[in-house]
Amino acid sequence: MTAELLTGIAELTTQAAEFSHDDDRLTDAALVIENGRIAWIGPAADAPAADSSVDVHGRAVLPGWVDTHTHLIFAGDRAAEFEARMAGQRYAAGGIATTVAATRDASEADLVANARRLRREAAASGTTFLETKTGYGLDLASELRGARAAAEVADVVTFLGAHLVPPGIDRRDYLDLVTGPMLHAVAPHVDFIDAFCETGAFDVDECREVLLAGRAAGLGLRLHGNQLGTGGGVRLAVELGCASVDHCNHLDDADIDALAGSDTVATLLPACDLSTRQPFPPARRLLDAGAPIALASNCNPGTSYTTSMPFCVATAVLQMGLTVREAVWAATRGAARAVGREHGPDAVGSLRIGGRADLQVLDAPSVAHLAYRPGVPLCVATWTEGVRAHPHASRDSST
Ligand code: NIG
Repeated sequence: MTAELLTGIAELTTQAAEFSHDDDRLTDAALVIENGRIAWIGPAADAPAADSSVDVHGRAVLPGWVDTHTHLIFAGDRAAEFEARMAGQRYAAGGIATTVAATRDASEADLVANARRLRREAAASGTTFLETKTGYGLDLASELRGARAAAEVADVVTFLGAHLVPPGIDRRDYLDLVTGPMLHAVAPHVDFIDAFCETGAFDVDECREVLLAGRAAGLGLRLHGNQLGTGGGVRLAVELGCASVDHCNHLDDADIDALAGSDTVATLLPACDLSTRQPFPPARRLLDAGAPIALASNCNPGTSYTTSMPFCVATAVLQMGLTVREAVWAATRGAARAVGREHGPDAVGSLRIGGRADLQVLDAPSVAHLAYRPGVPLCVATWTEGVRAHPHASRDSST
């Protein structure tokens, strides 16, 4: 067992209440990593001896990003659809079918390779924990393949058989498949069940049926809701105690009250909103009402082809009215809450004694630079469960 000391930390964001100090940030700090866990945190002047040490030379350190909404199991891209959208065409759920066709044609090895490529890309911008979903297979064999591929690549896997009724299939037959044989085939490989509650996808009663079947199979619940219109997605998510309801662009006062009085996290996806030209969710109103929020990339080929959590954080600050602290919290600890990983031995999204050593170093003295210098790749090193990586080995990271 060896101990590694990180010192020279100008600003350490812990997101851990026991170290809450001046905005949850310590200045002139150090920390020790031992056996994949945080062994010590405190002022650099009091740092204990360690087997090795890394001087980060006045940079900021914070938890690695926790990206809780991605759809990495796909083949092909939809650049033409994106270009048409930027020329004025509206986004509709039906575009999913294009990716379904390409995904069914790909081999499982190709799906894993593509998802790994995107996971590496995410890691390069500081993501140390990632969820991904099925949902571009939509028949039993393809969803099972997708679930296995997802489990190879991601930390948390969600079953999204209820993404769209595939063209040419009877709606009732498909729901019976999703809630029966398909669910039971994928269940050993997945942690959560999800449904796309939207016009053109599934209505509230259909989503309730899918989620309740998932709960009976032992899965956690989450929901895509209120992306393209108000509908009842958010209210359903709260009713069923979903860990998260994702998108939340169109919320009325009752939705905000429902979220504020619940444990359901509103996961906001700013890169998707830009790419689909949807109005941003009312993030400020959610926070002011006391509703917890998370930020996620929603990386997928249709509505949000980016893995960059720093882009989402910067957008949330610059365009959605969040403070830097709120946005960073939403992309780390708030996100951990959205996948049930905020507390306990497997907690992520915060830096605490005994917790996982999942952290990132920014080439900047404070997290404010994430929004102050938007678009600049600031992450120069990450540690995931104590294992160090240099996302930009060719840059002079001096760590
Ligand atoms: O979260 N909203 C539903 N599903 C994905 C994208 C689907 C697609 O168009 O490929 C999303 O945006």
